[in-house]
Amino acid sequence: MSASFSVASSTGSYQVTIAADSFASTLASLESPHLIADEFFRLNLPNLAHPPILLEATEQAKSLDRSPALIEALRIAGANRNSQLVALGGGVIQDISAFIASIYMRGLSWTYIPTTVLAMVDSCIGGKSSINVGPYKNLVGTFHPPQTILIDPTLARTLPPEQFASGLIEAAKICFCRGPESFSSYLASNPSPNMPTSALEQVTLSSLLAKKHFIEIDEFDRNERLLLNFGHTFGHALEGASHYAIPHGIAVGLGILCASAFQRNRGINLASIPKVQQLESHLTTLIQTLPNLPTHLRDLDLDLDEVLQRLASDKKHSTTQYTLILLNASGDVSLERINRTPQLEADLRQAIAATIDTHTE
Ligand SMILES: NC(=O)c1ccc[n+]([C@@H]2O[C@H](COP(=O)([O-])OP(=O)(O)OC[C@H]3O[C@@H](n4cnc5c(N)ncnc54)[C@H](O)[C@@H]3O)[C@@H](O)[C@H]2O)c1
Repeated sequence: MSASFSVASSTGSYQVTIAADSFASTLASLESPHLIADEFFRLNLPNLAHPPILLEATEQAKSLDRSPALIEALRIAGANRNSQLVALGGGVIQDISAFIASIYMRGLSWTYIPTTVLAMVDSCIGGKSSINVGPYKNLVGTFHPPQTILIDPTLARTLPPEQFASGLIEAAKICFCRGPESFSSYLASNPSPNMPTSALEQVTLSSLLAKKHFIEIDEFDRNERLLLNFGHTFGHALEGASHYAIPHGIAVGLGILCASAFQRNRGINLASIPKVQQLESHLTTLIQTLPNLPTHLRDLDLDLDEVLQRLASDKKHSTTQYTLILLNASGDVSLERINRTPQLEADLRQAIAATIDTHTE
């Protein structure tokens, strides 16, 4: 199977191609690219006209204070406004490259080759770049989609199972948010870290088509697209408080479980809704692929105050209200603004503690 579609955006439409075993021919077809690549691929790269800029894919690498060195490296390599910038890596390399591409000489067009499941099924479209500033994750960023996205799902085969699962969790979330048909089509591929490449291709297509719907109606994250933050407010807080020992998608999966524990505590009966049960049981299976999860969670339990502080400082909240994406009584995702009160904070603490307890047993 191979598939191709375009995504409309305010800066013009861009093209996505999904084709297994396309990586080598894709690289060979690029003319004098300035490549920013994940260090992991050091040995997989052919000789290129410009030496690749290799980066470790860490949260520290995607920080604002590391950007000037990268900009200087591109300048020294002779990159100009007509140069072809190519990014090869997961979400970290994507965020760095998108950010640099959006500001270097007031903007370069760029090509993206995602290498993690998360980047293939989710982050590669939507145009966002997010950069950390000091302790604040994703505090600054721009909208600057790549012109072309070339997805070779076979690249995901070298990912550790928990990184693979982390990406599947984002795909599950996107398809669930899109609606029952999309979520059923996702589940029909039997998603797991051992799935065959052909099934990953199918999941990638389902997830990207579902995401395309949201980003085309709300490119700048003001209305419908906000629903895709389901699990993220809790997830970012857990991810940060674990000092990024919990991969992003796994943290989002835990975040979705925290969000539904929070709703149950508020009296919303989710137990009788089959799609919610399916989502929770699928996420629980994927989350358990992280081998040392109980240890990380036990540490967080000691530092629940930090999780709550991080949760409270999410940039989507206002000074008086939390903005949370939650399941409503029909089991659909919806945005709720809830007044900041001591009771709310106690309820959030209880939901997170209960979710941590379940996964440390
Ligand atoms: N811009 C967006 O729209 C967006 C959306 C979601 C997440 N993100 C960001 O993406 C980041 C997470 O990205 P990610 O989960 O894609 O992973 P990543 O880029 O952090 O990489 C995770 C690990 O996998 C390694 N790796 C990458 N590809 C590999 C491969 N094919 N085989 C083996 N190892 C490989 C990396 O070297 C790294 O060690 C977070 O910083 C998050 O904030 C951005």
